[in-house]
Amino acid sequence: MSLKSAITVRTLFVLVASLCFLVLVNFFTISSHLFLYARIISSYIQVQHRSNATSGESEYIQWLQEKSRARKANVQHARKNVSLHARGKWKVYSATYAKDDKNKSEIASNAQHNLIVSRNDRQDSCDNCFAHKFDYVIFSDSICKVIEGKAVELVIFIMTAHENNEQRNAIRQTWLTISKNNTANVRYAFILGETKDKSLREKIMLENSVHKDFLMENFIDSYSNLTLKTIMSFKYAANNCPNVKFVMKTDDDMYVNVPFLLELLRKHEKALQKAVGGSCTQKASPIRVQTSKWYASYQSFPHKYYPGFCSGTGYVTSLNVVRKVYEVSPNIPFFHLEDVYMSLCINTIGYKLLGLQGFNTGRPKLDPCLYKSFKLITSHGLSAHMQKSIWNGICSIF
Ligand SMILES: *[C@@H]1O[C@H](CO)[C@@H](O)[C@H](O)[C@H]1NC(C)=O
Ligand SMILES: *[C@@H]1O[C@H](CO)[C@@H](O)[C@H](O)[C@H]1NC(C)=O
Ligand SMILES: *[C@@H]1O[C@H](CO)[C@@H](O)[C@H](O)[C@H]1NC(C)=O
Ligand SMILES: *[C@@H]1O[C@H](CO)[C@@H](O)[C@H](O)[C@H]1NC(C)=O
Ligand SMILES: *[C@@H]1O[C@H](CO)[C@@H](O)[C@H](O)[C@H]1NC(C)=O
Repeated sequence: MSLKSAITVRTLFVLVASLCFLVLVNFFTISSHLFLYARIISSYIQVQHRSNATSGESEYIQWLQEKSRARKANVQHARKNVSLHARGKWKVYSATYAKDDKNKSEIASNAQHNLIVSRNDRQDSCDNCFAHKFDYVIFSDSICKVIEGKAVELVIFIMTAHENNEQRNAIRQTWLTISKNNTANVRYAFILGETKDKSLREKIMLENSVHKDFLMENFIDSYSNLTLKTIMSFKYAANNCPNVKFVMKTDDDMYVNVPFLLELLRKHEKALQKAVGGSCTQKASPIRVQTSKWYASYQSFPHKYYPGFCSGTGYVTSLNVVRKVYEVSPNIPFFHLEDVYMSLCINTIGYKLLGLQGFNTGRPKLDPCLYKSFKLITSHGLSAHMQKSIWNGICSIF
């Protein structure tokens, strides 16, 4: 190899190395910019989604733009910080900037809060805006009545619809038999609102004259009024079940393994004085897709997260919690998803959501051995036929 070619190789190497260095440096700059623009674009998409929901639209866009600008300033600041740092001057600069930053974020969060408050969006709390002013159409004071001094441990409130007669009969004949027609340590009531359908209403009156296990109030019964049914149940428990220890809320298409539920409740008695138990998530986001069963508009819930919730398919708690929730509920504005509403109240009181084993929001395999074991406390979506076949099914292990 000649001297000349060695020099050329070295020059080439230096050239390539510097080129690589430049590309790398630029890559970081470009990617930080790309990231920034992606955030700005996503902010605009958020605005687009909101655009029909509220009147404070332009205010909100302004706030988002402010936020984007603040992000951009932060990136610039960070870059400046690096260069100052290199010159040993960052201390003074970052101290003043940090103060300024804190002030900015405070202003921004205040702005966001004021926006939410100033709009027609659902408020976090109110002064007696959701008082439960409904009257009973069907009432019985004997659901929780103590008989011959024997303790009543659990009352189960079962949300039902007028037409679900077959479902109700199936569970009366299966897992509800433990209540011995509301005379044992476990009690229950079917919870209903009003219907305009006269013949359906007649049928309910007839069914109630046989079983005397309904409670009905004079609000319109509908899926989006489920929250009213829960509050109605809690009102009943608070006023008419002073001796009951535990309360469960569930639906008429649920299987409940009551004997094992009782054991679980006794085990968690202390925790349940300040908690709701079941199949719970500690954090959840509202579903903004309009076709979803659980859709929540921005207006009905303007925050990014729910404070978690225990699935309304079946949750349990103590009479203490029921009383507290019933007390606080007039000041917690209506929200149509009953289980989320419950957790909004729980959150306000400062109580907890307690995940419990065996609470299923789906329907595990219809195996009598499973359904009669400690492994399963609730199962969801059983037809009348399924209830009976599980109940009468034989588990060869026992
Ligand atoms: C907003 O309103 C327009 C026209 O009224 C409608 O076409 C569009 O689907 C709406 N968008 C949302 C997100 O609701
Ligand atoms: C600026 O640099 C200092 C030292 O590296 C660091 O502690 C500080 O967090 C930086 N400030 C910002 C806003 O990046
Ligand atoms: C924060 O910003 C507000 C409004 O710009 C200003 O009035 C206030 O003095 C600032 N506070 C601090 C601690 O810098
Ligand atoms: C409960 O009531 C139903 C209907 O009135 C009756 O057929 C059944 O025998 C009663 N069960 C008990 C345990 O009393
Ligand atoms: C809920 O009940 C109230 C009171 O009866 C009624 O005005 C409202 O229309 C009901 N909501 C639905 C969606 O049925």
